[in-house]
Amino acid sequence: MDTSDKKQIISDFKHHVSSGKVATFKKYGMDFIIGKREGAYITDVTGRKTLINCHSNGGVFNLGHRNPQVIEAMVNATQNFDIGNHHFISTQRARLGKRLAELMPGDLNYTVFGVSGGEAVDLAIKLARGYTGRAEIVSLQGGYHGHTGLALAAGDEQYREPFGDNVPQFKQVPFGDIEAARKSITRSTAAFIMETVPATLGITVPDKAYMKALREHCTQTGTLFIIDEVQTGLGRTGKLWAFEHYDIIPDMVILGKGLSGGIYPITATVFREPFEAFFKEHPFIHVSTFGGSEIGAEVALKVLEISADPHFLEHVNKMAGRLAEGYEMLRNKHKKYIAGFRQLGLMTGIEFYKEDHGLLFTKAAYESGMFSLYANNDRRVCQLLPPLIITREQVEEIIEKTDKAIGKLRLYSATYSARESLKNIFGK
Ligand SMILES: Cc1ncc(COP(=O)(O)O)c(C=O)c1O
Repeated sequence: MDTSDKKQIISDFKHHVSSGKVATFKKYGMDFIIGKREGAYITDVTGRKTLINCHSNGGVFNLGHRNPQVIEAMVNATQNFDIGNHHFISTQRARLGKRLAELMPGDLNYTVFGVSGGEAVDLAIKLARGYTGRAEIVSLQGGYHGHTGLALAAGDEQYREPFGDNVPQFKQVPFGDIEAARKSITRSTAAFIMETVPATLGITVPDKAYMKALREHCTQTGTLFIIDEVQTGLGRTGKLWAFEHYDIIPDMVILGKGLSGGIYPITATVFREPFEAFFKEHPFIHVSTFGGSEIGAEVALKVLEISADPHFLEHVNKMAGRLAEGYEMLRNKHKKYIAGFRQLGLMTGIEFYKEDHGLLFTKAAYESGMFSLYANNDRRVCQLLPPLIITREQVEEIIEKTDKAIGKLRLYSATYSARESLKNIFGK
């Protein structure tokens, strides 16, 4: 595609989809339109710029772009199936529900399927309320669970504020503060929800004692512990489920993004067997027309087959090890800029000293040929979530491009005033 065709697309997008996004991306010289995409790379429609994708849409592209095994599963599925009917008993949903139960610990044996992560969180909160008869929901300040109704209510104020008062009975506690959690989570609390590693908060990796204490307190108060694994699940952290690092079993687990294989949207709310009693009484109380589409279920089964393979997880851990070494080297080299490096498997964040350096790094990395995204709830941090299928050579490329991008930070700090710099460029 030539430049004039690209201009036309940008104009159509501006006039019919989002003028604000076009204005923002143009201002910062990041008017990238994904054309070719394959494995760890995305290329602009003009073919002039290629980026190594270190955002992966928060884990949608765990298995890379257009993974051939996932595509094959989807193509085969289209020969015989379609969306199916959410109301009926379904072969594909039965198979996928069973497989998830096998891969989850304890009695996390039941699943309701959805289309988006937000929808899956909404359902988890509905179920917690329906089952416990309690209304109150506690979440983490700076956590992110999506932009739908109840998920939005459990998220940060900045996304809710323009839309009026929050839904009643939602409160937040600071990450890592077990005393605050103990005070807020009481016998009136239906559920406590958190991401295993809160990504938008800046890849804050919790410690074991905190997670264990949270689990214990939820059990004591009869509060359901909902773990959002939309970003952390499916091998991202070096284990199939990130909560496995903490020797805890949640009451519900939310899966999204990567379950789609980047090809067909499907999400899951997995919950412990006792809570199924609620749906036994109300089997048709929650409907999602496209949730658990039969084609999506076939895709998800393939994703699980690949992601649960011990060799695959071993690969993730190996690549994570090399990335950690490279970043340690960069930390020493760029001591003035880098405050720390946060990591659990291939879920990583670079913590800078200055407030807006995470977002300036986004621009600097883009210019260096790498797409990574700052953490909107802590802009000192830039998140790096490369596809889990990255090769050793690609890890070296990420280290090299990170090095180059940090080298550009001084220039960008001078060019863009900190406050208005890349503010809200990606909406979160
Ligand atoms: C941790 C987490 N939970 C939930 C969601 C919401 O998922 P979706 O955008 O599919 O609604 C996201 C999306 O970024 C997320 O990162």
